[in-house]
Amino acid sequence: MRQVRHKTLVLLITLSTLAFIGVLAASFAMPETKKKQPSFPQSLFAQAKPEDYIGDEMCAECHKSAHASAGNSPHALYVQNPKNPIDKRGCQACHGPGGLHIAHLKEEDKPFENVISYTKAKPEEIAAACLRCHNDTLTMAHWQKTGHARANIACTACHQLHWADRLGRDRTKEPSEEDKEAGRGASKRGVRSPLFPAAPEPKALLKADEATLCGQCHKREVSEFRKNFHHPVPEGRMVCSDCHDTHPNRDNHKRFHTAKQNCITCHGKVSGPFVFEHDPVSNLSSEGCMECHRPHGSHNPKMLTVFSRGLCNQCHTDKASTHYPGRTCWQAGCHVAIHGSNHERLMFRP
Ligand code: HEC
Ligand code: HEC
Ligand code: HEC
Ligand code: HEC
Ligand code: HEC
Ligand code: HEC
Ligand code: HEC
Ligand code: HEC
Ligand code: HEC
Repeated sequence: MRQVRHKTLVLLITLSTLAFIGVLAASFAMPETKKKQPSFPQSLFAQAKPEDYIGDEMCAECHKSAHASAGNSPHALYVQNPKNPIDKRGCQACHGPGGLHIAHLKEEDKPFENVISYTKAKPEEIAAACLRCHNDTLTMAHWQKTGHARANIACTACHQLHWADRLGRDRTKEPSEEDKEAGRGASKRGVRSPLFPAAPEPKALLKADEATLCGQCHKREVSEFRKNFHHPVPEGRMVCSDCHDTHPNRDNHKRFHTAKQNCITCHGKVSGPFVFEHDPVSNLSSEGCMECHRPHGSHNPKMLTVFSRGLCNQCHTDKASTHYPGRTCWQAGCHVAIHGSNHERLMFRP
């Protein structure tokens, strides 16, 4: 019995040593194999020969409306530049070499395997396709750190690259017969009527204005803007990306800032420096502004979390029962300079 166990042990050790060597060898070999076989969608460009790139007019023969709506994107100007390398020209800059696509169309089960389809590809494949060109402002490493990338949300959940309304058409309506005929207004996917009537024109090829777009998934946060006191998003004077960076890049690290650093880009005055600082306002490492304010909206004036002495009592518990019994501590002319003062330790005046 014991001997059998012993043998098994020896065998196990030998096997695992072999396996370890195998893994080591494989990991040394990895970089090379990786280089030779880039993953989809780069693999399409890597395997294409020059004759696999065809003219956009050929795509139009089978994809009339997509061909027409692609012309409305600011990308159209760029991809039509004859100075671009061939893999960054025309439709194929985004969809991959047409020759491969057409050659494989006959294989019934996989018409989408040799073309970059933004409706079928995985979110990280879509990101890789866009980042072939947008790598200068946003790298894959930056993108992967975002909550959206981690939640498997694609670039195309927010951005729409073919669209019809650059011609001044109402995106919320069905395209007219005439437009349909010309293949315009066909890409209605993702288009919604604005959540707030005063919505600003969407920028950066977003599918809708930000409150509407982001509100599809972040209902709770967007509904906070309906409260009586709110940042002026419903009025169209502010957008979500004024405070949130959906994709941080080399020049912009907003996402990694604390809420306070974000707030004082616009409300510099309240943060001092003051001769007499108020700790929760001046202390960068604390929750800062969020100790007392809601970021989106609140039922209380000035978007305060609480509108009573309770706001102050969360920290100044010693003042809970014995101190001045008024409703709030900053009205009635007491601690009016609540963010800090240059004259009064007790913040009775600015
Ligand atoms: C001979 C006709 C034909 C030509 C030419 C052609 N395609 Fe396609 N394409 C198809 C078919 C068929 C499909 C697969 C299924 C479908 O969309 O009905 C398809 C699918 C696609 C898809 C995926 C559609 C989706 O729903 O996501 C894209 C993108 C695409 N083609 C782009 C192109 C581009 C770009 C060109 C030119 C380089 C091109 N096609 C040339 C016939 C064609
Ligand atoms: C800058 C990148 C880009 C370029 C250039 C581009 N497309 Fe697209 N295409 C997309 C994206 C992204 C989608 C997914 C839907 C959307 O965002 O509008 C798409 C969707 C499609 C679809 C499938 C959906 C549909 O509307 O039927 C077809 C077909 C297509 N494109 C063909 C073309 C053709 C043909 C051209 C050239 C005239 C072209 N594309 C140029 C990015 C691009
Ligand atoms: C072939 C290169 C290329 C590819 C691929 C590409 N883009 Fe672009 N994109 C550009 C260039 C160049 C511009 C600048 C165009 C301009 O401002 O005239 C641009 C501009 C943009 C803009 C800003 C438009 C504006 O109004 O400011 C957005 C958003 C964008 N691209 C998103 C995407 C997304 C999402 C994808 C993937 C579906 C993508 N791009 C794929 C080259 C590309
Ligand atoms: C298609 C759905 C969808 C859309 C559209 C969307 N989000 Fe998100 N968002 C998510 C998911 C899922 C997460 C990650 C899960 C979570 O933290 O709740 C997330 C996370 C976030 C976070 C948490 C911070 C982080 O990076 O982890 C913020 C802030 C945010 N989104 C803001 C926005 C803004 C601003 C927009 C519009 C420009 C937007 N979202 C559009 C689904 C979406
Ligand atoms: C959750 C929604 C969302 C997702 C997902 C998203 N974006 Fe954006 N994008 C925005 C918003 C909002 C703006 C405009 C505000 C800004 O510039 O930050 C923008 C702006 C841009 C711009 C133009 C502004 C600039 O900095 O040049 C480019 C290019 C761009 N996005 C590319 C991408 C690419 C590539 C992906 C996928 C890797 C992606 N976006 C994913 C919301 C999104
Ligand atoms: C005035 C700046 C500001 C504006 C405008 C703004 N937000 Fe925020 N948002 C914040 C801050 C600050 C937080 C973090 C709150 C906290 O830490 O308690 C936050 C939190 C969030 C979260 C939760 C993130 C998490 O980690 O769970 C989401 C989602 C979100 N905001 C979405 C939106 C959307 C959608 C819009 C536009 C309709 C928007 N925000 C507009 C400042 C803002
Ligand atoms: C992009 C600029 C911007 C950022 C960032 C910003 N705000 Fe604001 N804030 C505004 C604007 C604009 C108003 C509306 C002022 C008005 O109505 O005249 C406002 C209003 C307010 C008000 C109400 C003022 C009043 O008199 O009723 C408070 C409180 C406030 N913000 C706190 C914050 C906090 C806390 C943050 C950080 C989470 C923040 N803000 C981030 C622009 C900004
Ligand atoms: C200790 C609680 C507290 C903290 C922390 C705090 N605030 Fe306030 N804030 C208040 C109170 C209370 C008011 C209302 C004052 C009034 O009505 O006179 C106010 C008012 C405001 C206003 C309206 C304009 C004004 O001066 O009356 C803005 C803007 C503001 N705060 C921004 C901020 C920002 C930005 C931060 C972070 C740097 C911050 N607050 C931190 C309690 C706080
Ligand atoms: C997040 C915690 C917190 C909140 C909320 C808060 N404070 Fe403070 N406050 C502090 C800290 C910490 C100090 C500095 C230490 C100390 O003296 O207690 C301070 C100091 C003060 C001082 C100076 C006391 C002295 O003896 O120097 C006054 C006055 C004051 N706070 C008033 C208020 C009022 C009024 C409110 C409500 C609007 C408030 N605080 C809300 C944390 C808070």
